[in-house]
Amino acid sequence: MGELTYEAGYSDGDIDTNLTQNRDLSSIVDERYSRRQTLFGGVAASAMAFFGTSLLAACGDDNDAPVVSAGEAAATTSGKVVTLTGTATDDDEIVTSGWKQTGGPDVELSGTNGNAVTFIAPSVTAATDLTFEFSATDSDSETTSATTKVTVSPAALGFTAVAKNMADVVTVPAGYSVAIGTRLGDPIAAGVPAYANDGTDTNFAQRIGDHGDALHYFGLNASAARDDTSSNRGLLVQNHENLNVQYLHPNGPSPVPRPVSEAIKEIEAHGVSVTEYADAGDRNWSYKQDSAFNRRITPNTPVAFKGPVAGSDFLKTVAAPQGNTGTGTINNCANGVTGWATLLTCEENWAGYFRRDNSGDGTDNANRTERELTALRRYGVNSGSGNYAWSSAGNDPIFRRWDARAVGTSALQDYRNEPNKFGWVLEIDPYDPGSTPRKRTALGRFGHEGAWVGRLIEGQKVVVYMGDDSRREYLYKYVSNASWSAADAQSADRLAMGDKYLDNGTLYVARFDANGTGRWLPLVFGQVPNRPAVGDAPEYQFASQADILVNTRLAADAMGATPMDRPEWTAVNPANGEVYLTLTNNNASNRPLGGTDAANPRHYGDPKINGGSTSFGNPNGHIIRLRENGDSNAATAFAWDIYLFGADSADADPANVNLSGLDASNDFSSPDGLWFSRKSNAAGAASPLLWIQTDDGAFTDRTHNQMLAAMPGQVGDGGAKTITNKNADGATAQQATIVGTAATGTNLRRFLTGPSECEITGVDTTPDGRTLFVGIQHPGEDGEANAPSSHWPQSQSGTNSGRPRSAVAIITKDDGGVIGL
Ligand code: FEO
Ligand code: CA
Ligand code: CA
Repeated sequence: MGELTYEAGYSDGDIDTNLTQNRDLSSIVDERYSRRQTLFGGVAASAMAFFGTSLLAACGDDNDAPVVSAGEAAATTSGKVVTLTGTATDDDEIVTSGWKQTGGPDVELSGTNGNAVTFIAPSVTAATDLTFEFSATDSDSETTSATTKVTVSPAALGFTAVAKNMADVVTVPAGYSVAIGTRLGDPIAAGVPAYANDGTDTNFAQRIGDHGDALHYFGLNASAARDDTSSNRGLLVQNHENLNVQYLHPNGPSPVPRPVSEAIKEIEAHGVSVTEYADAGDRNWSYKQDSAFNRRITPNTPVAFKGPVAGSDFLKTVAAPQGNTGTGTINNCANGVTGWATLLTCEENWAGYFRRDNSGDGTDNANRTERELTALRRYGVNSGSGNYAWSSAGNDPIFRRWDARAVGTSALQDYRNEPNKFGWVLEIDPYDPGSTPRKRTALGRFGHEGAWVGRLIEGQKVVVYMGDDSRREYLYKYVSNASWSAADAQSADRLAMGDKYLDNGTLYVARFDANGTGRWLPLVFGQVPNRPAVGDAPEYQFASQADILVNTRLAADAMGATPMDRPEWTAVNPANGEVYLTLTNNNASNRPLGGTDAANPRHYGDPKINGGSTSFGNPNGHIIRLRENGDSNAATAFAWDIYLFGADSADADPANVNLSGLDASNDFSSPDGLWFSRKSNAAGAASPLLWIQTDDGAFTDRTHNQMLAAMPGQVGDGGAKTITNKNADGATAQQATIVGTAATGTNLRRFLTGPSECEITGVDTTPDGRTLFVGIQHPGEDGEANAPSSHWPQSQSGTNSGRPRSAVAIITKDDGGVIGL
């Protein structure tokens, strides 16, 4: 209100000036009250308007002061957009009006001038009053004010559940909109042509890769510097896990030997992308093709090895005789984010990319030690040409390295150790496009799904929770030797912080005991016994800590860890530190009727509609969670329960299969992606939202893959339960387990469904929670180049033609509120 001018003697609107008035207060109030009633009809609001001090201060002559209303008191919940609308009338003219906050937790008003302003209701843990004052000043410089109250209640799921469906689009709740972000093939360097999407495109080292998976938004400020609070400019870092190879070439892939041009394209379409995104206003996002931050990290990008395995014989090849460098990353699945603003990208199903020959006494077996063969067998590096048979494209090292046969006279003459260079967590500094990414060997080598960092607490250890996605694999935790110092969060040398916290520590594997407790078993040389002989694999004797970290699965076997129903993403509740783990599903061979346990308790059949066969085992998966003893990151024991069980609510036995009581608004199968909203906004603060994404083949008779939003309780909010499992022959067995509180329409809802044949994977929001980024992976994966089975993302705007493309869906709430609330 800086432009206000006052008549002489009224320099500051002091209440004493009213002593010169002839009219008494009650007559003014009576007169204005009747006008107010006529104009606005609100008793409470008019009373507030009339007893404001500004009214009294303003009445100095025949001019009538403005009559204002701040509107009725209102109620809302955290994260919702609130619009304050004031009204002001005057016998002359209102010159200026505006709002200010007078009480309650601070909010950011969209402006201070004008009759209407908005704000986002803040996070609260109990109903909390916010008060605001509306003032208007007339042409005689007389000002009147009124106040109003907004009562904010804690966050709640605030959308109507999306129905299961088979539409070839991303479907979101009413009041939300979908825009398309970066897609497979989009150029991310100056001068690279637009994607033709007909199989002729080249140069994927400067285009968005295929199979977009986990993603994360890193904020940038107007000066292009890191800004963790920026919600209108940032770097989207996305994994590119694999290929829909049929759409990458004009008529699908050519047979072996693979043409050089096709192999190069397929290799480069894997890896990670860093792409600058900017909001042109009101969450109207686009990406910047020529940003200096844009980067592709592909299987050909130089990387460094760090931690206990770096420099060991395990990593030596003809291309890396020192064993401390490597080339690229592959099959990047889920991710993690450090407290110093780097990204952890995780190598999942890398084993299948390598050529081997272990038939009979083939060249490979003959030149391998028993130890090597045990390790290769345990990791599934099996006989075959390798995915896409890249090594058949020629003798250039970028192709030859995918041939892991031991054909030289030593490991320094071939690529027999190349499989040892994958299965790691790779740390990337997204803000420094020239930096060399670092593989963090202290975090172990397996089929890394994700690597989620636990809560960072000053003086406590830094921990990373990691799933190994294969049937009967394990959950791991890494605990740093160094204790967290918050000053490191803003270090300019981010990868040096990775060296500090991620290269020196202890790796543990989880054992879930039947009584609802569990143990973290240390994978430390000297404490890990020899791995006993299994089948035709002899006893494995560990030789060093590097051996344990390269052959983490063997060490976990030896320690007696609990084999799980395919450990996928981990997520950490930012409010209480509890750790969630998706267990996507298991088949009947690996989770038979007689092979269940308390933490993997179900064996059942999921019938199909439309004549499909029933899947047995645990086809719908579950989500387990744990709480560290003493809420200490470094704890070696924990309590656990099963938060949620996937099920088909229409045909699952409610007593023994649909154990979470799912209904049509929230039933799902095969949970995979898992992420808590950021604590920087109302969706992630007091009662954080948990987002659950599916990668399913069992429930696709009912719906495309989906994403749900949940408000979970906590470990122990349910109780013990004994269920009766039943196999395909009708035989039954009892299993005791520990089940969390049931799902309801209030604490779990379907938020989104995806297009045909896609998987939903990858999720983040801007720090303000008002833009949601979701990865839509492999739409139309079962189609062919000349007969695509999806046309997404073109279909999102009604064009039902063209080849499908993995892409980022950008989801906003039409009123600008926090997503999900
Ligand atoms: Fe790449 Fe287990 O999903
Ligand atoms: Ca079913
Ligand atoms: Ca996944």
